[in-house]
Amino acid sequence: MTPARPRAVLPVVSCTEKERKEDAMSLFKKRGHRPEATVDGVLSALSHVMDPELGRDLVSLSMIRNVTVSGGDVSLDLVLTTPASPRKSEMQEAVEKAVLAVPGVSSVDVRAGADVQAAKDPMEGRRPVEGVKNILAVASGKGGVGKSTVSANVAVALGKAGARVGILDADIYGPSIPTLLNLNHHQLMGENGMILPAAADGIKVLSIGFMLEEDSPVIWRGPMLMQALSQFLHGTKWGELDYLVIDLPPGTGDVPLSLVQMTPVAGAIVVTTPQDLALIDVKKAVRMFEKVG
Ligand SMILES: Nc1ncnc2c1ncn2[C@@H]1O[C@H](COP(=O)(O)OP(=O)(O)OP(=O)(O)O)[C@@H](O)[C@H]1O
Ligand SMILES: [Mg+2]
Repeated sequence: MTPARPRAVLPVVSCTEKERKEDAMSLFKKRGHRPEATVDGVLSALSHVMDPELGRDLVSLSMIRNVTVSGGDVSLDLVLTTPASPRKSEMQEAVEKAVLAVPGVSSVDVRAGADVQAAKDPMEGRRPVEGVKNILAVASGKGGVGKSTVSANVAVALGKAGARVGILDADIYGPSIPTLLNLNHHQLMGENGMILPAAADGIKVLSIGFMLEEDSPVIWRGPMLMQALSQFLHGTKWGELDYLVIDLPPGTGDVPLSLVQMTPVAGAIVVTTPQDLALIDVKKAVRMFEKVG
């Protein structure tokens, strides 16, 4: 007779039905475990999203700020270089997509705003205008091509996009900004020796037209005009502005040239109509900006 094989002895662990259920739950939780979203994880994902214009990632450009993570909910500021960026929604979408792809993230709130950068290194010999980050000069080769219309529209559009904007109408030959912005009867005001700009459509406005009698011809000569313009730039309470748009007199004569030379211009818009003769003049105006920096 063969001896009976000893039966394997299995340890008997007693557990109640409740304990078994709890154990199964913890296993289930472990299987479905979602990694926690973190600020670092979000930043690391966004360091692969590029600014389409600057060709660098949004994190190293300091365009991602105030990231907060609460559970799976992420919120952050996307700070653009101008509120008028045509790629705002494209960038907002790219950020949302990248953040939602981070494990553990279930929702994202991207607040798009802007922090306008001041033009770098105002050119030598040109005094920056206090509080003004960027000066945009609007010029033309010829008169009557739509310079003032463009100046007013650019200013109003930047203002509507959320920028702080001023417009300086320096066209002594035909200051038309007061008409375009409905300020024809504005009385120029001052405070402590400073000029106070007018306001229209949320933008600050100063026109050489505020100093002239309606319909009177301009008899100012060079030096007096330069002095007036200098006062318009430096003796006016512009406050903090992202952009100051200047409607220059037309052409490339003494007056517009001197104005451009004394102003720390960040960018220029040269307006023209499509005729050949107008285009010859506009090329001269473009060269004027190239020559004076
Ligand atoms: N894009 C456009 N298409 C058609 N007409 C326009 C356009 N822009 C402006 N105009 C019209 O052309 C005329 C001249 O425009 P505007 O006064 O803006 O030009 P300007 O270059 O500032 O002239 P000036 O040299 O007299 O200052 C105006 O009657 C304006 O309404
Ligand atoms: Mg004009």
